[in-house]
Amino acid sequence: MASSTLSPITPSQLCSTKNIAQAVFVKPMRSHTNNSMSNGRRNNGIRCMATSIPADNVPDMEKRKLLNLLLLGALSLPSAGMLLPYTYFFVPPGGSGAGGGTVAKDALGNDVVAAEWLKVHGPNDRTLTQGLKGDPTYLVVESDRTLATYGINAVCTHLGCVVPWNAAENKFLCPCHGSQYNNQGKVVRGPAPLSLALAHADVNVDDGKVVFVPWVETDFRTGDAPWWS
Ligand code: FES
Repeated sequence: MASSTLSPITPSQLCSTKNIAQAVFVKPMRSHTNNSMSNGRRNNGIRCMATSIPADNVPDMEKRKLLNLLLLGALSLPSAGMLLPYTYFFVPPGGSGAGGGTVAKDALGNDVVAAEWLKVHGPNDRTLTQGLKGDPTYLVVESDRTLATYGINAVCTHLGCVVPWNAAENKFLCPCHGSQYNNQGKVVRGPAPLSLALAHADVNVDDGKVVFVPWVETDFRTGDAPWWS
């Protein structure tokens, strides 16, 4: 690489030029051929090791920018792909029904519309739907063919089996260990320690869909505070 001696020149001159990015400063060199001249004097020369290149004309700068962008994109996409599921995990579900409730879903995953439901489900019917937090929840049709204002969570309070409705017995009978619940889900025989959980079953006035809302009031079957909330 060619080198040249820049003399006289002051550091301020170099610093003021836009070529500073290309200038390479080296330690002053001691001369062996002219000791008489160097005695008592310091060599203040500055050697420039590279040819000056304007800062706004760096070779391949556009390629570097393009590669940086490609690298950024290559790293960002997988990172975003990993972060989104984690972010979604911490977002509370809801908003699918009025007042933060959950629209009931039938066995096919369709929203339950009360009027349509009552056309095919007669008095004293108890049919499973998908309720709060995805729990299997019975919609109850009263004897006057109206929809009950409560749904019954079908998860057995003993060890969590889904309890089927037995219309002939007019009870919910757990097949796992024999617990029994009356037609409102109140426990009448163990080993289940508690009654089945309740949820409000409201009908949305706008679209007629059934919306489950958490039941936080007193359990009307027992007079106790709700154990599930
Ligand atoms: S899980 Fe229902 S009785 Fe045991």
